[in-house]
Amino acid sequence: MNPLKAELLSVALEAAARAGALLRDGRPDDLGVAATKTSPIDVVTEMDLAAEKLITDFLAERRPADGVLGEEGASTAGTSGVRWVVDPIDGTVNYLYGLPSWAVSIAAEIDGETAVGVVAAPVRGETYRAVRGEGAFAGDRPLRVRPAPAFGQALIGTGFGYLTERRAAQAEVLRALLPEVRDIRRGGSAAIDLCDVACGRLDGYYERGLNPWDYAAGALIAQEAGALTGGRPGDPASGELTVAAPPGLFEPLQARLEELGAWRG
Ligand code: IPD
Repeated sequence: MNPLKAELLSVALEAAARAGALLRDGRPDDLGVAATKTSPIDVVTEMDLAAEKLITDFLAERRPADGVLGEEGASTAGTSGVRWVVDPIDGTVNYLYGLPSWAVSIAAEIDGETAVGVVAAPVRGETYRAVRGEGAFAGDRPLRVRPAPAFGQALIGTGFGYLTERRAAQAEVLRALLPEVRDIRRGGSAAIDLCDVACGRLDGYYERGLNPWDYAAGALIAQEAGALTGGRPGDPASGELTVAAPPGLFEPLQARLEELGAWRG
C-alpha cells in the first residue's frame, strides 16, 4: 500500500478507537442536549464536542499540516493536500437516547478525493475501514455487498433530515417507495447505513441532505465493498442526494428516486 495512505489509515483507526472508547465508556447517564443547530431537533451533546476535540487534537499532533472539516465546527485549511472529514458522532440522536447505532466517522481526502475511510461503531463492536483501491474490511473480514435482488425484494435503508419541510418531502418519497420494495429501515446513522450496504446487511441506501462528514468514510467503504454510489443520475453522491447499492439494484433505485424527485425539499 502507498505509504501515505497506510499512515492516514493508521491515524484514522487510532483516532476513531480513542474517540469511540471515550463515547462508549464516558456517556453520562443523564446526558442532555448541549445546543441545537439547524432546527430544534438537530442536537449536539457535550460528548459530540468532547469527541471532536479529542480527534482534532490527535490529528493536530500526528498530522499538523493537514486540513480538517468537522461536524461540530472544526475547520482548518492545511498545507499538505490532505484533509480530514470528521463526524465525532454520526447518529447523535441514537447516542442521546442510548440506542446502539452510532459511529465515529473519519475520512481522509488526498487532493480532494477520499482516500481512506474509517467508521467505528463501538456498541456493535465493529470498525469498518477502506483504502481506495485496496478493498473494505471489518477487522480481518473483507466486506462484500450482497448480490442485487429484484427491486421488489430489496431492503433499503434511508434517513431523514432535521428540517420540517425537508422531512415532509422525504415522507412523500417514502410513501411511494415503501410498497415497491421488501421493506425500509431507518437506522439513524448514515455512516452505519453505508457500511451495512458494504456488509450485505442492507441491499441499498439513499438519503437527501447529508453533509460530507456523514457520508465521506461510509461511501468509500461501500464502494470498496462493490457498491456503486452516486447522487442524481450522472452526479456523484452529495448533499443533494446520496445513493448506494450493488450494480443491478443501483440503477433502478437511482432511476426511481429521480422519478420521485428525491432530491427535492
Ligand atoms: C445524521 C444521521 C442520520 C441522518 C441525518 C444525519 P448526525 O447525522 O446520519 O442517520 O438521517 O441526515 O444528519 O446528525 O447524527 O451526525
